[in-house]
Formats: sequence, C-alpha cells, structure tokens
Amino acid sequence: MEQYKRTATCGELRGTDAGRTVILNGWVNRRRDHGGIIFINLRDHYGITQTVIDQDAPAELIASAEELRNEYCIAVEGLVRLRPDTMVNPGMDTGEVEVAVRKLVILNPCDVLPFQIDEETKAHEDLRLRYRYLDLRSAGMQKRLRLRSDVAFAVREWMTARGFYEIETPTFIRSTPEGARDYLVPSRLYPGKFYALPQSPQLYKQLLMASGFDRYFQIARCYRDEDARGDRQPEFTQIDIEMSFVGRDDVLSMTEGLMGHVFKKTLGLELPQRFRRLTYDEAMETYGADKPDLRFDLPLKDFAPYVEAGNFRAFKDALALGGAVKALVVPGGADYSRKQIEELEAHAKIYKARGLAWMKVAGAPPALEGGVSKFFVNGNGGAAGGASAAGGTSAAGGTSAAGPAAIVEGLGAKPGDLILIAADEKRKIANTALGAVRSKLGKDLGLTAGPEGTGRFEFVWIVDFPLFEYNEEEQRWEAAHHMFSYPQEQYHASMERDPGSVKGDLYDLVLNGCELASGSIRIHDPALQKRVFSIVGIDEKEAEAKFGFLTGAFKYGAPPHGGIAPGLDRLVMLMSGKTSIKEVIAFPKNSFAVSPMDDCPGEVEQKQLDELHLAVLRPKEEQPEE
Ligand code: AMO
Repeated sequence: MEQYKRTATCGELRGTDAGRTVILNGWVNRRRDHGGIIFINLRDHYGITQTVIDQDAPAELIASAEELRNEYCIAVEGLVRLRPDTMVNPGMDTGEVEVAVRKLVILNPCDVLPFQIDEETKAHEDLRLRYRYLDLRSAGMQKRLRLRSDVAFAVREWMTARGFYEIETPTFIRSTPEGARDYLVPSRLYPGKFYALPQSPQLYKQLLMASGFDRYFQIARCYRDEDARGDRQPEFTQIDIEMSFVGRDDVLSMTEGLMGHVFKKTLGLELPQRFRRLTYDEAMETYGADKPDLRFDLPLKDFAPYVEAGNFRAFKDALALGGAVKALVVPGGADYSRKQIEELEAHAKIYKARGLAWMKVAGAPPALEGGVSKFFVNGNGGAAGGASAAGGTSAAGGTSAAGPAAIVEGLGAKPGDLILIAADEKRKIANTALGAVRSKLGKDLGLTAGPEGTGRFEFVWIVDFPLFEYNEEEQRWEAAHHMFSYPQEQYHASMERDPGSVKGDLYDLVLNGCELASGSIRIHDPALQKRVFSIVGIDEKEAEAKFGFLTGAFKYGAPPHGGIAPGLDRLVMLMSGKTSIKEVIAFPKNSFAVSPMDDCPGEVEQKQLDELHLAVLRPKEEQPEE
C-alpha cells in the first residue's frame, strides 16, 4: 500500500494544483465511457474528483479501467490538469480540475451492491441497516455524522470554557426511575440480581452536586426499553448538564448560550440570544401542545363566547360539563372538500376528539356556511330560534355578538377561510385534538417547509409544567417528569390536598415542534422529597430502599441545584432537517429494536446462561408442539 498511499484527498484539488502529480485513494462513485475516454469519479470522505483515462492511454490501463464497477476501492496516480472551459463544473468543489490517470491499482473490488449508494436511495430501511457500512458511505450520512461530531465538539468547547467538568457516571447502575422500562444486565456473581443500564445519569449528576462539583456535563449514553418512534431509540445520547446554586433562569440562559454557540460554530447560524417562553398552560391553550411548532402561528381560539347564543347541543354540553370549545381558522380553507375535512376529523379522533365541527366563511359582510353554521345564524340563537345573542349587542344584518359577523371577527377569520371546532368535556382533549390538527395543517400547507439543512429553527421554552399527572388506569398520581423536580414554592402548603394544581420548576426546550431538552430545578431538601415520594405512592420503606443513597446524601448539606438534558440525536436530526434520529446515528436499531446488520439481540450459548443463573422461558407460541 505504501507506494499507492494518497498524496491528496478527493476533496482538495483546485485550479492552482494544476501541474501536480498526485496519488488519490477512494471509491469509484461513477464510471462513464465516452467513446474511448473513460471518466471515473473518485470519492472519499472529503469529496469527489474526476479522473480521466484518455483515449491514447496504454491498453493495459484502459483494460483495468474497464474492469471497474461502482464502489471498487482504488488508487490512481496522475497529473492534475485544468478542465477545458466548457467542462468546468461549478457545482463541484473540485470542478475546475481533473486528474489524468497514469497508473491505476484496484485495492479491493466490490461485490454486486444490494442498493445504489445514494442519499435519495429508495432502499427499504432494513436493507439500509443490514448493510449499514455501505449506507454510511452516502454523502448525506457522511455529512450528518460529521455534523454530529462537530456538534459534540462544540458542546465540549463551550462547556469546558465555562467551568463545566465532563465526568463519566456508571452504565451499570441501580435502576433510575425515569418512566420507561429498564434494560437489565444479569449479575454472574450475585444470582438473581441485576444491574440496570441508566435511563439517564439523573441521580448521579445530582450526587455530583452534593459532592461539590458545581458544574457538570457529560455526553451520556442512555438506555430505555420503550417503543421506537422517529425521534426515539432504545439507546440514545444526552448532553447531560447539572449546576449548583442556580435558579431556573440560570439554566435557561446557559442552555441558550450553548445552543447559540453550537449553531454558530457548526451551521454558521446566529440564534436569538433569548428564546421565547410560554407557560405550559399558554402552550396548551394557544397551540394545543406542550411542544408547539412555532415555525407557523395558526393559534387555537376560544369558541366558548359564541356557544350560548347558538344552538349546538354538543358545544353546550361540553361547556356545561366544565370542558372547552376551541376553534382553529384555516386560512383559505373554504375550498376544502368534504373528504379533506373528514381526513382532518379522523386525525382529531386519534387524539380522542369525538368529532371535528366546521364552517366556512363566505362573502362580505361575512357569512358562515356549511357544517354547523346553521346553528349560529344571524345571532338570533340559531336556526331553531332561541335565546338572544350573548352580550346583547345585537344589530341588524347578523352583527350580534354571537352571530356570524361577531364569530368571524372574534376569531380573526376572513372570507375564504375554514373554521374547525373541537369541543370536549375534558379541556385537554379539545386542546390536544385541535393542536394535532394544527400540526397536520402546518405540514400539509407547507408552513414548516424549508430546504434540508437550511430550515428555520424556532426555539421555545415551555415552563411551569404540572408536577404531577393523574394516571387514570392505575388511579394514582405520578410525576409528570421525574420525582426529583422542585414544586414551586407557592404550592408547598397545598401539595397533598391538590396535587393536580402543583406547578413544578420544570422546563422543556422545544425546537420546531420537537422536545429537544427537559430539565428542572431539583429538590434538595429530604423532607420535601419525602412528601413528593408519598404523593406518587412511594412509602418511606420503598423510598429508603430505592433512593436512600440520594436522600441520604441530601442530609449532608447538599446545595440547591438544577439541570437539563438536551438530546444530542434529536438536536443533530433537527439541524440536518431530518425527521428520524436513525439518520444521525451510525448504527441505530430498527423500529423493532433490532439491528439487522449483526442480528442483535441474538441468542447466547447455554453455558453463558448457566453462568448467569438464567433459564429462558419461551413465549408459548414459540414452544415446539408436543
Ligand atoms: P428526559 O427523559 O426528558 O429527561 O430526556 C431528556 C431528553 O433526552 C432525549 N430523549 C431521547 N432521545 C432519543 N431517544 C429516546 N428514547 C429519548 N428519550 C429522551 C430528548 C429529551 O428531551 N434526566 C432528565 C433530564 C433532567 O431533568 O436533567 C431526563 O432524562 O431530547
């Protein structure tokens, strides 16, 4: 190999290199025969260079070139020369030059490819994952993994410059309760005992604060046995951060600084110094989501003021039962077909809506047409007649407070718009169902679109989350985030009486509708921690057994502390304009938590099971028939 070792990469040659003799190493990206002249586009990690075997080249060289197929690994030696003016390719970094080949060596041929290596490959995902080493050769995967590496570097650069220590925490731990199922590792030495792989380093980073480290970060691998989705993998990476003697705003502004540095350094983009902030309640009421996509507005509006004077039973019932009636104006949506509206309704129903009412805005003065509009005619209480308009500002021509004109004006609609309405006795259902329709419309109407990699980035903080959520199935309160988050001071007295109303010092960073990071100020007072455990049904004995080491540490003067954990995979995914984190992970699992390349998870030898004191009980359907 020494004699064929590259003297230049395939990405570096420019017009000023003309006249140099170089050796290039790489893969055949494409070979073209042009009536005797053979062009070979040679690719390596750094780029592509056009190499040429001229018509008058020695027969032996031409014969070797003819042997080449895509993805053969080769070395070429040749003279860099300027391309003729008409052949210059401004779309290619090396487009001014080509290398006239004098020597060609095949370093390693390539079998028939299972799919063409191409960013736009239509190959099935499992095939891509089975031959991941080939898939990773595509320009897109190379670019994204390079970005990932650059982002990780920028994070380290920024954090260490601000006094954060990078400290590793164990990957064999006692299970940390974060809400998902643990991956377990059986202990050979202690039959029946297991290590858990961390769902996050949560407890350890809190212990590091108790140990006086002040500012910690770690690019930490986390493991969660939960169903895979586009933005979820069984193993993933967090930029895990914790700080002592801080309040919420310190953590928020630190994170804004970190994101600003990362985007500037890796994408050359300037982010705002401060990100917008919405409370959880505002986000739910205005966007129907705790992770709203703010690349477009389309806010939800309150339809309740118009319900009473109308004559639509379902809306009245929802309000009577303490629920909500919410509306969404679709600009220019009046030409939606019934089928299109039904599709939106089906989408709302996935989020438990009973239905999706609609009406269209027409004419001037504005009138309402179709759908449920007949229940809201002219502010006289509806088609069937009824009470006078709410607010009593009724005027001639349907301009009452509850009539079409008032509805159109109140909702900020225009002729040609479509109004969608969701009502439910549970406020959260009306909001989330309509919020889901909002997200779908954002995508369908192209409001989120931006060319890949150059998209818009709309960050928003969601703050003041509820600390507890009621689990209807299990009929108990559970922690909305995790059990170590600090209940805001004003709720301390009433916490046990009304857990549902307690807001925590919890915050999420949302980017383009995706939850990018979560964090909180933590409880550092063992007595308060005990009360939170008790509300989520963990008694003193269980608390001692599971978290005694943490609450114990808090008894020794633990400092107030708080932190956050942005997901690295999600960050790089969003920066790359992708919708799946698999596109930014070198060797991800498929949707069934399997790696088709190395067939993982795999069977193990009986001997290994014996050593681990394990017996496998096969599910019934897998047992051989008697
Ligand atoms: P949380 O569980 O919200 O918080 O996770 C923080 C961030 O990690 C990323 N993330 C994931 N990424 C890919 N696949 C997954 N399965 C996955 N699960 C989570 C997300 C998410 O916002 N210990 C706390 C943080 C803290 O309080 O400091 C925690 O883990 O980007």
